[in-house]
Amino acid sequence: MQPNGVSHARDTFDFLLNAPALFNAVATALETGVFDFLAEHPGSTRAEIGNAVGINDHQMRVLLQAVCCTGLLDKEADRYRNSTIAEEELLGSGTDSWRRILPGWRAIYYPAFARLTDALRTGTNTALDAFPGTEPTLYQRIKHDPDKERIFHDAMSAFSERSVGALVQRQEFADVKHLLDVGGGDGMTARHLVDRHPDLTVTIFDLPSVTAIARAATHNERISVRPGDLFGDEFPRGVDAVLFSHVLEVFAERDILTLLRKAFAVLPPGGKIISYHHHVSDDERSGLYSARLSLYLTALATGEGMAYPVADYVRWLHEVGCDDVTSVAGLPYEHAVVVGTKPSRPLPRSRSCAI
Ligand SMILES: C[S@@+](CC[C@H](N)C(=O)[O-])C[C@H]1O[C@@H](n2cnc3c(N)ncnc32)[C@H](O)[C@@H]1O
Repeated sequence: MQPNGVSHARDTFDFLLNAPALFNAVATALETGVFDFLAEHPGSTRAEIGNAVGINDHQMRVLLQAVCCTGLLDKEADRYRNSTIAEEELLGSGTDSWRRILPGWRAIYYPAFARLTDALRTGTNTALDAFPGTEPTLYQRIKHDPDKERIFHDAMSAFSERSVGALVQRQEFADVKHLLDVGGGDGMTARHLVDRHPDLTVTIFDLPSVTAIARAATHNERISVRPGDLFGDEFPRGVDAVLFSHVLEVFAERDILTLLRKAFAVLPPGGKIISYHHHVSDDERSGLYSARLSLYLTALATGEGMAYPVADYVRWLHEVGCDDVTSVAGLPYEHAVVVGTKPSRPLPRSRSCAI
């Protein structure tokens, strides 16, 4: 290996081993306002930052040293300033801000990874034990803790919003009149879609406690909600496209096929199934965000699912009877969109599907 390769691998290894602690240092610096203060007062001393954010000098020293190691703060003599990447990524206060995402990752996702060995050995999402209730998935169980449910959906919605632009601009939505957004969460995607496509109406289908969040967050007569269970309830009819945004990936293949067949059944000929999701590379060697997602699904959320490679979605859409299946991979944050169309004429018996 080249000397650079060795050094890169060594740096990555050193960073990796210390990353959980450093992640928390950065989340705390964001939460306590260190980055905001330095945006307003670049070149401040440790004492000035500590006074502003209400942290004692020794503790401030520890925090600032840790955050400097991550490259998010620069220090010259005894003065600190935000690095370029901190300015670009951490200062925004929009609905897709990392300050909305990191609290959810810290409080809900990351504690679960300590249970990974157990989850892999037992084949179940053992980290779900930390949540009250008996339901088999985090999505169903989290309603018992409304504070955590809010943090969870805030983080999920904000992180999804960072990649929603690549979805809503797809030309496939241009011809759609009524879209069913299955597992549409707090309605973020629906709101972006109707803003972009003036003739589009969206029905969000999700669990009752989640459609209540969507209803409260959405004030647009072209968006309605339908509470229900993905597997226990029928999908609404009268739609000409069905969207699964970050939904199929949370389940195992058999459940994905069930959901795709349900979608196929409610569509008219020519109707579209659109999946938007994280994906690992085809050779399953890369994809940092995708790896994190797959591990979280395995240890906590469902005990199933992963950021499947795109070829899997293409195969599944063909399997349920779609033709004209197209895909675009490599979208922001390791996303892909895969679209299948319900044929206008019935398929030969061997390729048709029964529900
Ligand atoms: C990963 S989130 C995706 C949310 C949103 N579509 C997005 O892109 O951010 C999965 C969604 O599926 C919903 N969901 C999970 N299991 C469900 C079930 N059994 N019935 C109805 N909705 C469910 C969750 O409540 C959640 O809103």
